[in-house]
Amino acid sequence: MIDHLNRLYDTFTKELTSLTEQAQVLKLKADYLGKKGAISDVLKGLSKATQEERKTIGPLANDLKSRINSDVALALKNLERAAIDKQLESETIDKSYRDSIKSNAIIHGGLHPVSLIQQEIEDVFLSMGFEVIDGPHIDDEYHNFEALNIPGDHPARDMQDTFWFHQYDDDTIDNKYVLRTQTSTLQVRGMKTRKPPFKFIAPGKVFRCERTDASHESVFHQLEGMMVDKDIKVSHLIYIMKTMLAEIFQQDVKIRLRPGYFPFVEPGFELDIQCLICKGKGCSVCKQVGWLELLPCGMIHPNVLAAGNIDSSQYSGFAFGLGLDRLVMMRYGIDDIRHLHSGDLRFLQQFQTY
Ligand code: FA5
Repeated sequence: MIDHLNRLYDTFTKELTSLTEQAQVLKLKADYLGKKGAISDVLKGLSKATQEERKTIGPLANDLKSRINSDVALALKNLERAAIDKQLESETIDKSYRDSIKSNAIIHGGLHPVSLIQQEIEDVFLSMGFEVIDGPHIDDEYHNFEALNIPGDHPARDMQDTFWFHQYDDDTIDNKYVLRTQTSTLQVRGMKTRKPPFKFIAPGKVFRCERTDASHESVFHQLEGMMVDKDIKVSHLIYIMKTMLAEIFQQDVKIRLRPGYFPFVEPGFELDIQCLICKGKGCSVCKQVGWLELLPCGMIHPNVLAAGNIDSSQYSGFAFGLGLDRLVMMRYGIDDIRHLHSGDLRFLQQFQTY
């Protein structure tokens, strides 16, 4: 009987190692330790055994039972761990896929420095109660010149080399079109659609048939501004200009105001900024004079107010036309305006803000 018990245990361990499911292990346990199991059968036979045999077989059977119990517990634990490992394997994150996403990351574009500065200036003026308005790039001769007190034979027309849309062999066309040479085209358009008091800015592209150099482009950006109310004086103009420049540069910049001639303002001024590229010593950007024309301005001429249906005996106002590209150059220390339109990503990526 002792041999039989030992053989039973050997067969049990062999069968146990071949099992792969917890349910199979539990069934095997029942086959050996259950009421009708193999060990129980052996113990039932003890009644026929001698006193001496019982003394050895009893403890041996109990020892066998506890070995089978602990073997079964260990097998169940191992099978459970194997099942968890299998599940984890199937749920593993494919890192190579994640890495490939990273390397193909979408490269975002950024705003052009001129747009960045334009937005900053818009914010400054919006905070002072100005509106922001827009207008057509192709405008008529009237709004680009005549409404601004520049009639056809006026020498001031030569100040801005113009891209004309008229047919040069047919002078009978009454209203000729131009690529606007200045954002001042929006002065009369803006005035006609508003009643004083009002104040607005009008940023945008302008076009001139000019040779380019370090500070001149044929397509560049201006930002027009107008304020009309009762008793507007030069001091208001200077205050607003100074506030804007202080906000944009966030540092002490030297400016100078000198008389300037524009048919649509009287008196007119040129507001120059000391060249920040050469710190006033003279360079190709400021044409060796140390100062750069940046912000022409003045008090709106009565003829222009009249073209905008505004009674100049009651109202007065100021206007200015800021050169945005030159402002960008001064702000970032760019020594040639042509970098701005070069489309060179190595240049443009320096201004990405994210
Ligand atoms: C004008 O265009 C006037 N309309 C400005 C004005 C508005 C005066 C309202 C009075 C009242 P001007 O041609 O100087 O002015 O140009 C204005 C500014 O645009 C210049 O100071 C300069 O900063 C910029 N600018 C002019 N020409 C160019 C150019 N070719 N390339 C880049 N910036 C230029």
